[in-house]
Amino acid sequence: MSLKFKLIGYPIKHSLSPWIQTTFLERSGIKGSYTLHEIANEGIFEEEINKLKAAEVNGFNITVPYKETIIPYLDRLDVTAERVGAVNTVALEGNDWVGYNTDGVGYVQALRDKFPDMDGNKDVPILILGAGGAARGIFHGLVLAGFKNLTLANRTRSKCENIINGADASIITLAEAEKNIAAFDVIIQTSSVGMNEAEQIIDLSNLRQGAIVSDIVYQPLVTQFLKQAEEKGGRIHYGHTMLLYQAQKAFEIWTNKNVNVEGMDEEMIAKIKGDK
Ligand code: ATR
Repeated sequence: MSLKFKLIGYPIKHSLSPWIQTTFLERSGIKGSYTLHEIANEGIFEEEINKLKAAEVNGFNITVPYKETIIPYLDRLDVTAERVGAVNTVALEGNDWVGYNTDGVGYVQALRDKFPDMDGNKDVPILILGAGGAARGIFHGLVLAGFKNLTLANRTRSKCENIINGADASIITLAEAEKNIAAFDVIIQTSSVGMNEAEQIIDLSNLRQGAIVSDIVYQPLVTQFLKQAEEKGGRIHYGHTMLLYQAQKAFEIWTNKNVNVEGMDEEMIAKIKGDK
């Protein structure tokens, strides 16, 4: 039997997911395919989802702009997708379409793999900069992993309140984050600021030596934010690992196999740089 997986979204032509998932299939010796299913606009979404269901796929990833649009078409959501309010992975389980969200959990796994010392203390002070969809996934990924000392900083405060939604966490302004940056051992930049090479969400002059600094932006791979973090003695973490680890979690949901991602990190860097 050959398994059939898809990626839904728009635009997705340059996505690295087919390469990642095909590599996973090869590495785990499973026969199958992972191909693109572009849906150009929301008007045809229902029709396309019905086509997909009829095509008897075993599962699919869903990306921008449809991570919320898909929810009413699913039979149930797992706890993370429920908390985040968005789905990036769907699996056919029996006759049910089940929605998961592996973005934040995958990202947190990437961080913990690279910096195992993070796990030694669940009270490690963590700062999340930005409060969009990515921050929401990462925040709940951290909560589910047991991290207890979480602070959010964003230009628009209400978006932080919305993400926290009753959980135990602090909210500060970006100016406060900049001033008190030395109080944090882990800093995660989740906003789109940094895609423009010259921009940086906050200045890191007061960064503590040895702090872990991560930026989810991976185009460019080395953002201005990460450059400054490195100059200040921070331990830096690139954003592309989010894509790799969310894919690993999705693959595990579909196949029950925990595939080894060794070496793929470096190959991805080469592909991202080649894209530029
Ligand atoms: P998503 O698509 O992931 O939901 P988004 O809505 O584009 O993301 O928002 C990404 C984040 O980048 C937001 O937290 C946004 O801040 P606001 O909530 O105040 O809009 C943040 N962001 C974008 N441009 C910014 C800038 N120039 N300065 C500070 N924050 C910025």
